Amino acid sequence: MGVLVFAGVLDKKGPGAENLKRVCSSRLCLIQLNVTSSQEINEAYKEISSNVQDAGLWGLVHNAGVFGYIGDGELIPLSVYKHCMDVNFFGVVQVTKIFVSLLRKAKGRLITISSMAGHAPMPRLAAYASSKAALSMFSAVMQQDLFKWDVKVSVVHPSGFKTKNWSRQEKAILDTTTPAVKEDYGEDYIASLKEQHHKMFASSSADFSPVLEDVCHALLAQTPNFSYTPGRFAYLIPCFSHYLPKWVYDSLVMQLFQINRGILPRSLRSKNKNV
Ligand SMILES: NC(=O)c1ccc[n+]([C@@H]2O[C@H](COP(=O)([O-])OP(=O)(O)OC[C@H]3O[C@@H](n4cnc5c(N)ncnc54)[C@H](OP(=O)(O)O)[C@@H]3O)[C@@H](O)[C@H]2O)c1
Ligand SMILES: *[C@@H]1O[C@H](CO)[C@@H](O)[C@H](O)[C@H]1NC(C)=O
Ligand SMILES: *[C@@H]1O[C@H](CO)[C@@H](O)[C@H](O)[C@H]1NC(C)=O
Ligand SMILES: *[C@@H]1O[C@H](CO)[C@@H](O)[C@H](O)[C@H]1NC(C)=O
Repeated sequence: MGVLVFAGVLDKKGPGAENLKRVCSSRLCLIQLNVTSSQEINEAYKEISSNVQDAGLWGLVHNAGVFGYIGDGELIPLSVYKHCMDVNFFGVVQVTKIFVSLLRKAKGRLITISSMAGHAPMPRLAAYASSKAALSMFSAVMQQDLFKWDVKVSVVHPSGFKTKNWSRQEKAILDTTTPAVKEDYGEDYIASLKEQHHKMFASSSADFSPVLEDVCHALLAQTPNFSYTPGRFAYLIPCFSHYLPKWVYDSLVMQLFQINRGILPRSLRSKNKNV
């Protein structure tokens, strides 16, 4: 589209970065950027600000994110909660704080990629969803604070795109769970959690164009929307969450994710047998 793009990558020498360089035009400039590293953020700022100078920066799109684990909130390791917050929330806050002066110069756009899970409660996503909820609220408040500067803010809440087939997580859960809790849930229950990963992945869409179109709209439309909801159910589920009583919403979402059809934690199974 003729736009000069600085693309932050976690590993500038990695295969993903190499691939970007190969498929994109010479207007794409790769920048080494781990969003949890103050040093790398400062270096990226130096490079970009000296490049754009007084024109400033038209758009800042926060896409980097980690998904953490799927599992009952009791089972997800604390380190995973912290990692989600570090990347999905504090990473965005720190990069925004440093780059927003360039956006003010250009009267540009601030765009964050949150998630449907940050918009409506989703079972077994406590770590990821909490970090995205924090991010969505950050975006909503920044819209208020940046209004006077003519910087427009948008947040994208996607659902279900086939970007990564998630790796195994059972071992970390087993390593951080106390024997008593492990006994209550059972190792077979913990092992079954990965089925939800596979189901989610299988039902996801390999066509990312709805997300890309929304990001382009947020960047380039004269009057961008505040919230975008690309993907299956991404508009509907948060609507239900907003307007239905919590118990109705919960039973609906449990059905949708087939939580009730999986196996129960071990001690609930034996209790049912005793009754
Ligand atoms: N896919 C979906 O259905 C979906 C739904 C809702 C929201 N989202 C959000 O959309 C965004 C893109 O996700 P995706 O699905 O494309 O997942 P993805 O393939 O895992 O992409 C996330 C990217 O962020 C990078 N990253 C991780 N930690 C980083 C750090 N500290 N600094 C800089 N970069 C870092 C990852 O690098 P490495 O690959 O090198 O680890 C990866 O390239 C994320 O914010 C995600 O939460 C996705
Ligand atoms: C990103 O930076 C943080 C903080 O400096 C560091 O702990 C982490 O290992 C870095 N991640 C990568 C993939 O380099
Ligand atoms: C995703 O990974 C799992 C194993 O981790 C594998 O069984 C499954 O076939 C993979 N799915 C796809 C579509 O690659
Ligand atoms: C922006 O919001 C308007 C009004 O709510 C809606 O009709 C339109 O479809 C939205 N545009 C995009 C690209 O989501």
